[in-house]
This record gives sequence, structure tokens and C-alpha cells, in this order.
Amino acid sequence: MKLKALLSVLVGSFLMFAVQAQNMSDEDIKSRIEPVGSVHVAGAKADSAAASGPRSGEDIYNTACFACHASGVLNAPKLHDAADWSPRLEKGIDEVLHNALNGIGSMPPRGTCGDCSDDDIKAAIEFMIEGV
Ligand code: HEC
Repeated sequence: MKLKALLSVLVGSFLMFAVQAQNMSDEDIKSRIEPVGSVHVAGAKADSAAASGPRSGEDIYNTACFACHASGVLNAPKLHDAADWSPRLEKGIDEVLHNALNGIGSMPPRGTCGDCSDDDIKAAIEFMIEGV
């Protein structure tokens, strides 16, 4: 009898602990989401503020081109990588820009940046080939 009581206390406190742990992790998740959420809001604000003024090539690269050009997805020429860019630049910057605007191979037109002007794309390319 005593053992049963002890067991039920143990099981009971374990369950309470489990429930508490669940609550705690929910709280944890909430408190983790909140600051991230506000960072995103701040980022969105900065983005829309930047959209009304000129965006730097680096900004555009970081929003629209980074996904493929940072690691060279599908053989995309990598950021500041001379070996990747030199053969492409031999065609002349106008041709390279033309290809970026219209798409080439697996490179989608404008790198899928719908709200990028021709100058924005050009600035992003200039940023990517800096020092090449
Ligand atoms: C979905 C992936 C992806 C995104 C996003 C992307 N690119 Fe590319 N890009 C590629 C790939 C793949 C190539 C190589 C295409 C080939 O030569 O077959 C490429 C090639 C290029 C080239 C070389 C063109 C040439 O003539 O050789 C330029 C310039 C370029 N991208 C600019 C950009 C810019 C600027 C952005 C952002 C606005 C961007 N890309 C976003 C995948 C991407």
C-alpha cells in the first residue's frame, strides 16, 4: 500500500514536472520568438525605407542574389570569386548585365528580384565582382 502511494506521488510529480517543462518551453519559445519578431519588423521597416531611396548593390545582393551566389548554387558565380567571374566578364559587362536581366541557364531573370530596376541589378553585379 505504502509503495503504491509512493509510486503515485512519484508518477504525479513526474507528470507535474513534465507539464511544467512543457509550459516552460512554451514560454521559452514565446520569449525567443518575440525578439526575433521585432528584429524582422525592424528589418522590414529598413527594407521599405531603403526601397524608397536608392539601394546599394550590397543590399540588393543580400536580399535577392545571396541565396545562390554566396555558395555557388547550380554553378552560380560566387561573390568576389575571380575564377568564377573572370571568364564571364570576358563577354563584357553589358552582356553579363543583359544575361542577369533576362536570365541565363539556371539564373532566373533579375535573380527573381521583381522590384529591382536595371540599375539595381547592375549595382548588385558590381558588388559581386568587386575586387575580381
Ligand atoms: C536561383 C538562383 C539565383 C539567384 C537568386 C540569382 N542568381 Fe545569378 N546566377 C545563377 C546561376 C545558376 C548562374 C549561372 C548561369 C549559367 O551561366 O548557366 C548565375 C549567373 C549570374 C550572372 C552571370 C551572367 C553571365 O553572363 O555569365 C550574373 C551577372 C548574375 N547571375 C547576377 C545575379 C544577380 C544580380 C542576382 C540578384 C539580383 C542573381 N544573379 C540572383 C543563379 C542565381
